[in-house]
Amino acid sequence: MIGAGAVGLAVGQALAGVGAQVVFAIRRGSDAAWRRHGILRTGALGESRSAPDDFAVCDGISALRGHFDAILVCTKTFASAEVCRALAEVWPQLAGPRRVVLFHNGWGSADVFRAAFGVESVFSARVITGFVRKAPHWVDVTVHADAIHVGSLFGADPSTLAWLAAALSSGGLPCAPAKDIARDLLAKLLYNCALNPLGALRGVPYGVLGESAATRAVMDAVLDEVFDVLGANGLSTHWARAEDYRRVFYDELLPATAEHESSMLQDLRAGRETEIESLSGAVERLGQDVGVETPVNAALAALVRAARSGPSDG
Ligand SMILES: NC(=O)c1ccc[n+]([C@@H]2O[C@H](COP(=O)([O-])OP(=O)(O)OC[C@H]3O[C@@H](n4cnc5c(N)ncnc54)[C@H](OP(=O)(O)O)[C@@H]3O)[C@@H](O)[C@H]2O)c1
Repeated sequence: MIGAGAVGLAVGQALAGVGAQVVFAIRRGSDAAWRRHGILRTGALGESRSAPDDFAVCDGISALRGHFDAILVCTKTFASAEVCRALAEVWPQLAGPRRVVLFHNGWGSADVFRAAFGVESVFSARVITGFVRKAPHWVDVTVHADAIHVGSLFGADPSTLAWLAAALSSGGLPCAPAKDIARDLLAKLLYNCALNPLGALRGVPYGVLGESAATRAVMDAVLDEVFDVLGANGLSTHWARAEDYRRVFYDELLPATAEHESSMLQDLRAGRETEIESLSGAVERLGQDVGVETPVNAALAALVRAARSGPSDG
């Protein structure tokens, strides 16, 4: 496990709970107090606990050694280049299939890892379960919309991860291999691009964004742009047209998560880096690649960058 935050601890706990040999590579020097308490998962998928002896912790990616069936990357997307570099350095010291599975929101990080490890080694997971870290050793599952899906954006056979999906499911986190993970990830990109930046800039939960014509107009424009950009890039999601998705978005998805605040809002409040470059920023770049303008996504990306910048940014 690379990244022992909300997602990493929950996923690692589920695997350790069914007897997998789990190693958490934490950031070097980081005080992982949870390693002395074990890991507790509570919430929508039930309660489960792993004792400190059930998993191992190593100090930094560079300290990893041994045989790994899979390397699950559960960091934020902005750490991808750094994590990829560190993993590439230690790669020759590792044995086994070493399938790299990215538990990432947004779009683009798989290309970073593919460039280093090749199309057969890099897989993606689509997560639409909500994990909140209530204490250093305690992750709460706040919402569970569907099983985690794992698959390849580069044509590799997802059934090579059937063992991982089965282990996670047995450990209490439903998971299934998916043939077309791109559609799943892009469906989540639509939802995140409409809600996260605007919710973060307004400082409100998602439900409030659906209440006014002004915010709905911004979200409508975001969704139109994402559909235009996906079409021009030869990509598609589960809906053929923006208006089809909008119906599901406003009638089902938004009401179901009305109380939810985006992690981007929490990151801005705490002065932390956000994942905007993998969401609106990724849409902007995909548009630039094919000459499609995305003024609303670009403006949201610029505003989120500006909202985080401090005097030291000049
Ligand atoms: N939380 C959710 O409900 C949820 C749901 C779906 C998808 N996701 C996606 O899942 C990904 C992870 O999210 P999260 O909520 O788990 O984030 P998080 O709680 O912030 O955890 C990220 C972890 O990565 C660690 N990290 C960063 N750089 C590292 C490095 N170089 N080496 C080792 N560890 C490193 C951080 O360590 P430090 O503690 O030392 O900073 C932190 O523990 C994101 O892409 C997110 O969008 C999250």
